[in-house]
Amino acid sequence: MGSISIKNLEKFYGKEKVVKNINLDIKDKEFVVLIGPSGSGKSTTLRMLAGLEDITKGEVFFDGTLVNDLPPRLRNIAMVFQSYALYPHLSIRNNLGFGLKIAKFSKDEINTRVSEVSKMLELDEHLNKKPSQCSGGQRQRVAMGRAIVREPNIFLFDEPLSNLDAKLRAKMRLEIKLLHQKLQKTIVYVTHDQVEAMTLASKVVVMRDGQIEQVGTPIEVFSNPRNIFVATFLGSPAMNLTPAVYKDSKLVLKDGHILPIPKRYAKYIKANQEVIIGVRSESLTPNLHKNVLSYYSFDAKILAVEPLGATSNLFIDFGKEQFISRMNHPKEIQIGEEMKFYLNLDKLYCFDAKTKIALDAKE
Ligand SMILES: Nc1ncnc2c1ncn2[C@@H]1O[C@H](COP(=O)(O)OP(=O)(O)O)[C@@H](O)[C@H]1O
Ligand SMILES: [Mg+2]
Repeated sequence: MGSISIKNLEKFYGKEKVVKNINLDIKDKEFVVLIGPSGSGKSTTLRMLAGLEDITKGEVFFDGTLVNDLPPRLRNIAMVFQSYALYPHLSIRNNLGFGLKIAKFSKDEINTRVSEVSKMLELDEHLNKKPSQCSGGQRQRVAMGRAIVREPNIFLFDEPLSNLDAKLRAKMRLEIKLLHQKLQKTIVYVTHDQVEAMTLASKVVVMRDGQIEQVGTPIEVFSNPRNIFVATFLGSPAMNLTPAVYKDSKLVLKDGHILPIPKRYAKYIKANQEVIIGVRSESLTPNLHKNVLSYYSFDAKILAVEPLGATSNLFIDFGKEQFISRMNHPKEIQIGEEMKFYLNLDKLYCFDAKTKIALDAKE
C-alpha cells in the first residue's frame, strides 16, 4: 500500500519558513502532481516525504505509520530527480542493478528484476552501454528503471523531464502515464509545467510561496480556480483579467463596457463591490459557437495576431487591458481591422478585487 498523510507540515531554513502548514492526503495508487512557480516549496516538500530533509514541524504518515524519523532507505520509496545522477563508469545494466546490489539482493534476483524492467522500458538492447553512449530519453528511462527495480510502494519524481527537449518530454510524459497504469503505485510528481500537471495528475496540488492554493482534479482546478493565482497559473495563454464595479446589477468596466452578472455569481456579489473579472481566451472568440447561449458581444480593433496554425491569438483592448481572443478556423486578418467578438458569459469568472478569491469559492 502507498497512502500518504501530511499534517501541518512546515520547513524552516534558518529563520525563513519555506513550507507553511501543508495538509494533504494522498490515496494508494493516486498520481498527485505538485505544481507551482520556482521557489514555491515543491522540492522541499517532496524531500521531506523522502526523508532527505528534516521536518521542522508537523507529521508525515505512510499507511498510517508516522515516518518523520524513519531514514530514507526504510521508507519503501524511490525517487527520480531532474539530474538523473547515473554512474558514468557503470553500464546501464549495473546502473539499474546498483541499488539492489547495495541492498544485498542475490545475483539471480538482480538479474531477473533488471531484465524485466529493461524490457518494460525498452532498454534491453542498451544494457552494455555506458550512460554517455545513450540519448537523453534513454538516460531518463534508466533513472526511472533504477527506481522501478526497487519495487517501492511510492514513487517520488522531482521534475524528471525538465532536461529533455519538448518533443521527447511529450513522449516521456505519456510513458510515465502508461507506467503508472501498469505499476499501479502511488506517484508524487513535482513540476512547474502545467501541461505535465494537467495530463498526468489524478490530483493536482497548486502551490505558491510554501502554501497550498488549491487541490483538485485537473478539470476542477482549471474550471473552478479558487483564486486569481490559480486562474492565471493554469491555462495558456493566461486568463484575461480586468477590474469592474458592480452597479445597478451590472458589471461596469473601466472603458465603459457593461456586462450582465452571470447567474452563478448573482447571489454572492454586493452593490458597488469591486471585482476582477476573468475570461480565458477560448471563451472570447470571433466565432460564435452554437452552444454558447449567453454571451456579450462587442466590436474591437485587432492590435496584433499570433497565428498558431489550428488557431490564432488575436490581441484586442478590453476593459483598458490587453486581452487575447482565440480564433478557431483562422483566416488572414489585417492589423487595425474591426471585428465582432463574443464573450461567453457562462465562462466568465468573478474574483473579489481585494481578496483575489472567486466570489463563489467554497469556505
Ligand atoms: N538548502 C536550502 N537552504 C536554504 N534555503 C533553501 C534550501 N533549499 C531550498 N531553499 C529555499 O526554499 C524555498 C523553496 O525551495 P524549493 O522547495 O526548492 O522550491 P521549488 O522546488 O518549488 O522550486 C526557496 O526559496 C529556496 O530558495
Ligand atoms: Mg524544485
